[in-house]
Amino acid sequence: MNKAIYPGSFDPATNGHVDIIYRASKIVDTLYVGVLENPSKTPLFTSKERVEQLKCLTEGISNVEIVCFSGLLVDFAEKLNVKTIIRGLRATSDFEYEFQMALTNKQLSPDIETLFISASVNLQFLSSSMVREVAMYGGKLDGMVDEMIKKALEDKFKGKRV
Ligand code: PNS
Repeated sequence: MNKAIYPGSFDPATNGHVDIIYRASKIVDTLYVGVLENPSKTPLFTSKERVEQLKCLTEGISNVEIVCFSGLLVDFAEKLNVKTIIRGLRATSDFEYEFQMALTNKQLSPDIETLFISASVNLQFLSSSMVREVAMYGGKLDGMVDEMIKKALEDKFKGKRV
């Protein structure tokens, strides 16, 4: 069976992430979306919140499963018996970080391949960090995130706006 994992922080998931999930789900039988729980970072949304958000965003895609992981991605992929990692690639600025990550994962687990899907042209600029910043200052997030994420961001920053 043709399975892959699309890992990330998804803090929060943007329309760019959802676009990659939709497109990747068409080329594999099962797509795991791996939400990183990183104890050394303090994300805006808890891993539980991020998992719930992604479940909601992908509820129409039958072959997508949202999972949470900590530790090394390759260890988690091996546990799931997955040999393919999917990552979205935006502008050339992503390349160095993504290349380094793909090569590190290859070194750690030579059987695992990383495949890149180029971000759709209209979503190239999007990142979770930009979304968080725009939300923090109360800016418009139209076209960047789903309405449900917009509402979750509004709730997070309620009373905390600078
Ligand atoms: O959305 P992000 O933050 O760019 O995703 C990065 C992620 C989660 C894919 C990456 O940080 C990761 O895989 N972390 C798990 C730890 C790991 O395996 N590190 C070695 C490879 S970089």
